[in-house]
Amino acid sequence: MLRSAEVGDTYQLFNPQAYLQNNYMPPRANFENEDCVVPWKLRCFASSFSTGEIHGHTLLDIGSGPTLYQVISACNFFNRIVMSDYLEVNREELRKWLRRDPGAFDWSPYIKYVCGLDGKRDHWEDTERRLRETIQEVCHCDIMQANPLHPKVLNPVDAISTTFCLESVCPDKKSLEEALANISSLLKPGGFLLMIGALNESYYLAGEVKLSVIPLDEDYVKETVSRSGYRICTFKTYNMPPDLNIGVDDVCAVFYLQAQKI
Ligand SMILES: C[S@@+](CC[C@H](N)C(=O)[O-])C[C@H]1O[C@@H](n2cnc3c(N)ncnc32)[C@H](O)[C@@H]1O
Repeated sequence: MLRSAEVGDTYQLFNPQAYLQNNYMPPRANFENEDCVVPWKLRCFASSFSTGEIHGHTLLDIGSGPTLYQVISACNFFNRIVMSDYLEVNREELRKWLRRDPGAFDWSPYIKYVCGLDGKRDHWEDTERRLRETIQEVCHCDIMQANPLHPKVLNPVDAISTTFCLESVCPDKKSLEEALANISSLLKPGGFLLMIGALNESYYLAGEVKLSVIPLDEDYVKETVSRSGYRICTFKTYNMPPDLNIGVDDVCAVFYLQAQKI
């Protein structure tokens, strides 16, 4: 069994470009097909925000990696978004997009899709601008620490999003539960947790490196989140169709969860 320090060492080989290619380009990011996994993920976030219930000053995204699709819907409901990741290469990938570096990943198809859900596709550039203004920080985080943002101290935030982080970073279920408690300490009571994760996955590839994942099932996720002091509002699952099993992981399904801290 791996210890968290060993997981951290393995992550040093994480290649953001390979990870983006595997998960955020076609065939997994096919906006012509509503049944494809990426549009499904974007619709989950959009649907949570469409109720108007989730809003506030700050949203914190934990384990952002090189991606920002997970905060596109949020940018119209928060004054400030803080992105965070363990690896400098991933934080730098996000900063490249923020400063319009020509080598940055192109998130415009994602932004167009999200705007299109509200019939505002023609105004996608307003949302892109808003997203760049709202993402005000990209900081280091380590979910294994009691304060994952150490040495930074943040006032408790109004919402936390985290996607494919807990199960792919923690060496075992005990440390996953501790990491969830660490993350939850950053959230206000009444605040919302928005989480996407993999079900029954044991590994994924990010370039040369093969990262271990804790295979989770739906009941475990619901019980663990509830036991950590949340009321689950929404739980959705997506079964990965065979044509999206492209040899970059062994994920069986993806879950989306919205929960409110009690
Ligand atoms: C599977 S990726 C998820 C990336 C992105 N959130 C997404 O939705 O695709 C897992 C991320 O966790 C980050 N990570 C690794 N160890 C971590 C730790 N101890 N604390 C926080 N994040 C960590 C990795 O750098 C990587 O970006």
